[in-house]
Amino acid sequence: MKKDFIAVADYSPEELKEMLDLAVDLKKEYFKKGNQPILKGKVLGMIFNKPSLRTRISFDMAMRHLGGDALFISPAEIGLVQRESIADVARVMSGYVHGIMARVFAHSHVTELAKWSSVPVINGLSDYNHPCQAMADVMTIYEKFGKLKGLKVTFIGDGNNVAVSLLHACSKLGLDFSIASPEGYDLDDNAWKMAEGFAVKSDSKLNKFRDPRQAVAGVDVIYTDTWTSMGQEEETEKRKNVFPPYQVNTGLVDLASKDAIVMHCLPAHRGQEITDEVADGPHSVLFPQAHNRLHAQKAILVKLLTLKCL
Ligand code: CP
Ligand code: NVA
Repeated sequence: MKKDFIAVADYSPEELKEMLDLAVDLKKEYFKKGNQPILKGKVLGMIFNKPSLRTRISFDMAMRHLGGDALFISPAEIGLVQRESIADVARVMSGYVHGIMARVFAHSHVTELAKWSSVPVINGLSDYNHPCQAMADVMTIYEKFGKLKGLKVTFIGDGNNVAVSLLHACSKLGLDFSIASPEGYDLDDNAWKMAEGFAVKSDSKLNKFRDPRQAVAGVDVIYTDTWTSMGQEEETEKRKNVFPPYQVNTGLVDLASKDAIVMHCLPAHRGQEITDEVADGPHSVLFPQAHNRLHAQKAILVKLLTLKCL
């Protein structure tokens, strides 16, 4: 039986914690003496229908550090949907590689890949969510505070794919989650309802705001992301008029806890959703957060490609 990593919501809090513990161990091992080649002989096929810096390089390096290899496949090469059906691509690739990582536009494309593939499929971002990002985010929060439960996380801006995965990670793991977004840019209703169910079990508190100042009051983590996600480029100008009150700047950060950290999945649009002063300031964890993509994904790969402890 294979297992996929399509959404944080598909995993139990215990499984998520186990994966995070493994990520911490693999990170320690990597810096001490290098990782053991536990994925020797395994190859990850990486389908990219959108650009990427972090996801592309961190998955490639994660496979290499663990003794395996990765194959980058650009949009023009396989032409997912246009040249060949997802069902056929999935079944063919399953005979060549040991796992598939896919960054796609429509979320249904990654679920379809998972349905037809006989090897594990990892979601490297879709228009609905970004689960690998959320694992690195939670790992970074844990490293900074030494705990997760009870911490207050607030997301400022568009209720986008990154927000959905962060909401689900927080509500599964017992962190309080709030979001401040402008009208028309709320988090997906279904994703919110799912989180309410997770939050009952983990004792996490969820809140929605319009006013970013209210949302950040006393919080431990401020998180933001681009106002315009990949695939929404034609809305860029419209969004530039709506989102400026949601900029994460020094005035906003000053309202949070004095030890608050500021997070961003990157790429950042400096001067839009975040100022240089904050991105490069004392509260920022932007680069350790980006680096943790490598370690968090190693844990996902080990779990899925060796089926250890699942
Ligand atoms: N945060 C993130 O996924 O970055 P890339 O788009 O560069 O992969
Ligand atoms: N919300 C952004 C995240 C990029 C990593 C996007 O989908 O473009």
